[in-house]
Amino acid sequence: MTSPDKPSTVVCSWNEWDPLRHVIVGRADGAMIQAPEPAVQRDWPQWGYPLGTYGPLPQEMADKANEQLDNFVRILENRGIRVDRPTPLDFSQTVQTPDWVQKSMFGCMPPRDLLLTVGHQILEATMCYRSRWFEYLCYRPLLERYFQDDPDFRWEAAPKPRLTDRTYRDGFWQEFGAKSEEERIRDYSLNKQWVLTEHEPLFDAAEVGRFGRDLFVQRSTTTNAGGVSWLRRHFPDHRIHEAVFYEGDPVHIDATFIPLRPGLILNNRKRVPLTAELVELCRRNDWEIVPCAVPARPEKPRLSFCSPWLTMNTLMLDPKTICVESGETAQMELLDKLGFEVIPVPFWDVAPFGGGLHCSTADVYREGTCEDYFPKQIAGY
Ligand code: ARG
Repeated sequence: MTSPDKPSTVVCSWNEWDPLRHVIVGRADGAMIQAPEPAVQRDWPQWGYPLGTYGPLPQEMADKANEQLDNFVRILENRGIRVDRPTPLDFSQTVQTPDWVQKSMFGCMPPRDLLLTVGHQILEATMCYRSRWFEYLCYRPLLERYFQDDPDFRWEAAPKPRLTDRTYRDGFWQEFGAKSEEERIRDYSLNKQWVLTEHEPLFDAAEVGRFGRDLFVQRSTTTNAGGVSWLRRHFPDHRIHEAVFYEGDPVHIDATFIPLRPGLILNNRKRVPLTAELVELCRRNDWEIVPCAVPARPEKPRLSFCSPWLTMNTLMLDPKTICVESGETAQMELLDKLGFEVIPVPFWDVAPFGGGLHCSTADVYREGTCEDYFPKQIAGY
């Protein structure tokens, strides 16, 4: 598991903080407000997209986002980090399998959602949106190349889900829309049950926080119990810990709970853990949990499904260096006080395309080996 790397090694990354040498950064080209589908609901009359409508994000928004993504790539490259980019498809096309027809795809801005790098392996997640079922094709040119260049690269794909109507709870979004945040936490988060049924295993890669031997997986609107169980069987040398946070509509762990360096976790100040074992595991192993700063912007940007909590969606370049969205002054000050060199990166225009600095990237190579940062485990967790 911790064999030394050869010169031919392309893919290897065990955690979120070791020195980054090679990364994938997404693209905003052609991204869509996706056509209606059972997994998710977009209802934005205030932005010209009421329930049931769909279409491309405006070209000028995509141009601005791509400018910020390209600038981020230059910052990384100037630090000697190699950057690869996905190949966008025509995301406005209708896609289908023998089971369903979906009138549009989504995009390829957030590679983190799809690609899970664990050691020498990159795993393509199942995903649970029909609009994202074919997204892996955007990354295939890169994965094929890594496969050719690196004899130790383990290229894996989780079972493609069927995503028939049996995968989703009927009438969920109507019920969801009628509930307050507190009711959603009581009725969904505490039961770990949202729109997905347990008909088949489902997970997004961005629900996994990588801490060496320990992987924390958030149960959410994209990840069901079967998904966690599948990951547990797939990574038998790792310890998979399931987690739930104080949030009614959870999507992806990386604006909620992220490690900054061994012993230090940045936690969303509102989305605190509902899983007591998680807090106890951190306490036993001397991991401090620090609440993030209050986000700089109270509102999410136009046509964005992401929240202002992208303030904590940061990318570690090494255990001392962190990329933070440049408008997030309070967040930068907090990280500065915690001893980090903070690199401000303008990135707010990327948010409508699927996230922040962590979402928009996927690790290919970080230095370092697989370490045990939680030697004192809790039985049954
Ligand atoms: N759902 C999160 C929020 O709005 C954003 C996280 C997005 N993460 C990602 N990998 N796409 O707070």
